[in-house]
Amino acid sequence: MSETQFDFITSEEKKSYVRSMFSDIAGRYDFLNHFLSFGLDYYWRRKAVGVVKNHVAKIAEPLILDIACGTGDLSFEMLKKIPNAKITGIDLAKPMLDIFQQKIDERNASITISEGDVESLTFADNSFDAVTIGFATRNFSRLDIAFREIARVLKPGGIFVNLELSKPRRTPMKQLYLFYSKRILPVIGKLVSKNSEAYTYLPDSIQRFPEREAIMEMLHHAGFSKAKWQDLSGGIVAMHVGRI
Ligand SMILES: C[S@@+](CC[C@H](N)C(=O)[O-])C[C@H]1O[C@@H](n2cnc3c(N)ncnc32)[C@H](O)[C@@H]1O
Repeated sequence: MSETQFDFITSEEKKSYVRSMFSDIAGRYDFLNHFLSFGLDYYWRRKAVGVVKNHVAKIAEPLILDIACGTGDLSFEMLKKIPNAKITGIDLAKPMLDIFQQKIDERNASITISEGDVESLTFADNSFDAVTIGFATRNFSRLDIAFREIARVLKPGGIFVNLELSKPRRTPMKQLYLFYSKRILPVIGKLVSKNSEAYTYLPDSIQRFPEREAIMEMLHHAGFSKAKWQDLSGGIVAMHVGRI
């Protein structure tokens, strides 16, 4: 894997690359997600939803925004565990949302979705009790702007829960993960998704993503008064929780 293959010149260039990549793999995204993570993605989402559920337990009709909702797995898990929630999903890639909408129709679920960019949210200040993001922050062009936008749309006392693939730090998970992400994941990902780059971009974007502590700093800068993180599955995933 080249270190420079995904050096985007401008943030707009990255955004357009990300939009077209997810549009291209949308139809195979769910299968690859579960297959390549050995089904662990269900567990990671349940952990995030557990945190949101605790936080909104006393709110009669919590308003929750699932940013970069993709095909909707995190939103559906939220609706299952917090049935009184009003969930809104936004995503950059229309084909991902089309699949989400099909699932909403099939399940007759009450979730509102629309196209949108995390860096320019169309919601008013103080709109939501909770904001969630699953496995998407690596793809954002300007993380500082994204975090500021999330802080803006959260109500005072609101919570932000972010799941992101991360770099395990400890032996043997560190070595296992490196082997898997460099040798196995790109090959299977390319075969199944028929997209030659998406599953090389994936480990590359994880390598480039800021470390857990740097994300904490960014959350503080964006206006979160408290922030913490927790490793899941030996550090394959980091879950950050910020409070306004
Ligand atoms: C790996 S998928 C995650 C989907 C879903 N959250 C999940 O848990 O499966 C990443 C998603 O982030 C979306 N995305 C990337 N950049 C975005 C942005 N700037 N604003 C909104 N969505 C974005 C992509 O279109 C894609 O659907």
